[in-house]
Amino acid sequence: MNWKKQVIDFIETRLGIRDILEQNLTKYLLPRNINAWYTLGAVLLTLFMIQFATGILLLIYYVPNPAEAFQSVERIMNEVPFGWLMRTLHAVGANIIIIALLLHMLSVMFMASYKRPRELTWLSGFIILNLAFALCLTGYLLPWSQLSFWATTVATDAAGAIPLIGDDLVRFLRGGSMVNEATLGRFFALHVMGMPLMLGLLIGFHLFCVRRAGISRAPFGPDYQPREHPDHFEHEEHHDGIPFFPNYVIKDTAVICFFLAFFLAIVFFAPNLFFPESAFEPADPFVTPPGIKPEWYFLWAYQALKIFPSEIIGLGVQGAFMTFLALLPFIDRGAERRPFKRPLFLTCYALGILLFVGISIWGHYS
Ligand code: HEM
Repeated sequence: MNWKKQVIDFIETRLGIRDILEQNLTKYLLPRNINAWYTLGAVLLTLFMIQFATGILLLIYYVPNPAEAFQSVERIMNEVPFGWLMRTLHAVGANIIIIALLLHMLSVMFMASYKRPRELTWLSGFIILNLAFALCLTGYLLPWSQLSFWATTVATDAAGAIPLIGDDLVRFLRGGSMVNEATLGRFFALHVMGMPLMLGLLIGFHLFCVRRAGISRAPFGPDYQPREHPDHFEHEEHHDGIPFFPNYVIKDTAVICFFLAFFLAIVFFAPNLFFPESAFEPADPFVTPPGIKPEWYFLWAYQALKIFPSEIIGLGVQGAFMTFLALLPFIDRGAERRPFKRPLFLTCYALGILLFVGISIWGHYS
C-alpha cells in the first residue's frame, strides 16, 4: 500500500469525507425541470469571491486618509504591476454583482420561490441585497475623488429629511457637519471589515437555508402541481431529479463563464463605463462639479426624492416599498406558484420593473 492511500484511508475512516461528498454532490438530486435562472446563486458566489480577493489586494496599496487616498489609487492604476486590473475588476465587479443580485431576486420572485418554507431564505437574501448596496456606497468614497466626495455628500444629505433625528443622523454618518476625514475613516472600516464580515455570515446562513429547505421545483410544465407545505419541517426531495454533480455543476459553470465573459469585456474594452469625468479629479470641498448623480442602481431612489413635493414623502414611499419587498413572503401566502395563474402578481411585477427602469432613466437625464 502506498503512503497516499494510507493517508486517505486514515482520514476517511475517521471523518467519512466520501459520505459527505456523496450526500452533497453525486447523491444530491435537484428538480428535473430546473432551469438556467437557478444558476445565478452560483454566479453570485463566484463574483463575491473575486470581489473579496481583489479588495484584499487593493488594501495593500490603498491609504485611507484624505491627503493620500486619491494619489494611492492613482499609484495602483499607473505604477503597481497589474494594479489597474485589480482596481478595474473591483470597481466594475461591484456593478456586475448588483446586476446579478437584481436578476437573482427577480427570478426567485417570478417563480415565487420565496413562499413557505423559504421565507428565511428570502429575508436573508433581502438583507444581503441591502448590505451590497451599503458596500457600494461606502466603497464609492474611498478613492476621495470629486465624484466620491460629492456623491457621498448628496447620499448622506438625504438622511437629513427624516424628521426629529435627521440632522443628528447626518452628523453621525459623516462624523461632522461635512464629509471629512472622519467620514473616510468610518466608511473605510465598514467597507473593508464590518460589512464583509456580516456579508460572509449572511451568505453562509442563506446557503444553509437553501440546503435545508431543498431547491424548489420550477413552477412550469404539465407535471407541476402546487402543494401546501406541511406544518412540520420537510426537506423538498426530488427522487427523479438530476445529480448536482456533475450534471448541474456543468450548467452552473456555463452560466458563470457567460457572466465572466461579459464582466471581462467591460474591464478590457470599456473600463470607464461606470466612471464619469469627476471620478478622475481629486476631491475639492469648495468646488461642486456640475451634474453629480448617484450610481445607476440608486438613480430610482434619487429621482423618487425629487418627484414628491417634500423629501420626507419620498423617503416614506421608498421605506414602504422596501418594507413591502422584505415582507413579501408573509403577504403573498397562497400555495400557487405558477406565474400565469397569478395575474395580479404578474401585473404588479411587470409594472414594478417598468417603473424602476423608467424612473432610473428619468433620474439619469433630469
Ligand atoms: C450574495 C448574494 C447571494 C448569494 C450568493 C445567493 C446564493 C443562492 C444560491 C446558491 C441559491 C440556490 C440556487 C438558486 O436558486 O440560485 C439561492 C437560492 C435562493 N435565493 Fe439567493 N443568493 C444571494 C442573494 C439573494 C437575494 C438578494 C435574494 C432575494 C431578495 C435571494 C433569495 C433566494 C431564494 C428565495 C432562493 C430559493 C430558490 C429556490 O429554492 O427555488 N438570494 N441563493
